[in-house]
Amino acid sequence: MTFDDRLGRRVVEHACTYLDGIGERPVRATLSGDELRARLGGSLPAGGDDPVEIIDALAAAGLRGTVAWQGPRYFGFVTGGSLPVATAADWLVAAWDQNAQMFAMSPMAATVEQIAAGWLKELLGLPEHWSAGFVTGAQMANFTGLAAARHRLLEQAGWDVERDGLFGAPPIEAIVGEEAHRTVFTALRMLGLGAGRVVRVEADGQGRMRVDRLEAAVRGGTGPCIVCAQIGNVNTGAADAIADIAPLARRRGAWLHIDAVQEGGTCWAGGTGWHGQAARRISICNWSTNNDDIDRSAEAILTVCADPT
Ligand SMILES: Cc1ncc(COP(=O)(O)O)c(C=O)c1O
Repeated sequence: MTFDDRLGRRVVEHACTYLDGIGERPVRATLSGDELRARLGGSLPAGGDDPVEIIDALAAAGLRGTVAWQGPRYFGFVTGGSLPVATAADWLVAAWDQNAQMFAMSPMAATVEQIAAGWLKELLGLPEHWSAGFVTGAQMANFTGLAAARHRLLEQAGWDVERDGLFGAPPIEAIVGEEAHRTVFTALRMLGLGAGRVVRVEADGQGRMRVDRLEAAVRGGTGPCIVCAQIGNVNTGAADAIADIAPLARRRGAWLHIDAVQEGGTCWAGGTGWHGQAARRISICNWSTNNDDIDRSAEAILTVCADPT
C-alpha cells in the first residue's frame, strides 16, 4: 500500500490549526447535528472522493462540530486531555493498524502494554508479579473489577461461574453507596447480579457512603458479598472513607471494589515516602472537597493494595 503523503501533511496542518485555536473558540459545538449531516451526509456516493478533500471536509466540520474539552475554559465532564506526544503516537498506532489480541499478532503492541503495566506497578508500589490490564474507561474498569469479584467469590463458594453460569449459583450480595456512579449499576446488570437486588447504603450530603449505615448493612451478613465504594462522587468529588469501609468489608468477608476514577487526578511517585508507604501523592484532583478525605482514602487504597486479603 502506498500512502499519499499529501494526506499526512494535511492532517498535521488541520490538527495544529485545531489545537492552536482551542483556547479561543467557543467551547460548545457551533454546528448542529442537522448542519453536520448536511455537510457530511447525503445519499451514499456512487464512487470514492478525493482523499484530501475528504480530510479537508472532516477537518472543517470538526472545527465547529466538536466540543473544545482540551481547552482552558472547559468546565464540563471530567474528561482528561491528551499530551501532544500521545496524540502523535496515536497517529503511528493508526498507521500500524495492529490486531493486538495476542503477542504473535503484534509483538510491538503486547510489549508496549507490558512495559506500561510494569511502570504503573512501579509507580503505585504494587507487587511485580501482579498482572495488569488496560481497559477503555471507568465503565469497563468497574465491569472488570466486579467480574473478578464475582469469579473469586463464587470460586470460594465452590462454584465455577465461567463454566456453569449464574443459574443455581450462590447469591452474591452487592452493597453500594446510594450515590455510586451509574456505571457500577450497569456493570452489575451486565454481570447478571441485577441492579435491582443491590443493597443501597445511604449517602451523606456530599454523596459519601455513610459508614454507620454500611456497618448496619453488613452486620450479621453471611455468604458472598461485594462492597462497592468510590473515590469520588462525580458531582462533589467527595471520597468515601475507605479507611473505615475497608475493615468493615474485611470483617464481613466481602470483596471491596473501589471505583476510583476520580482519583485519576492523583498521581503517585515511587520511592519518595508518604505516610510510610513507598509512594507519594504529587498532585491532587482539584475536584476534592476535602483534602483530608482524599488523604485518608488514598492511604487506605495503598494499604488495600499492599494487603489484598
Ligand atoms: C465515579 C465514576 N465512575 C465511573 C465513571 C465512568 O467513567 P467512563 O466514562 O470512563 O466510563 C465516572 C465518570 O465520570 C465517574 O465519575
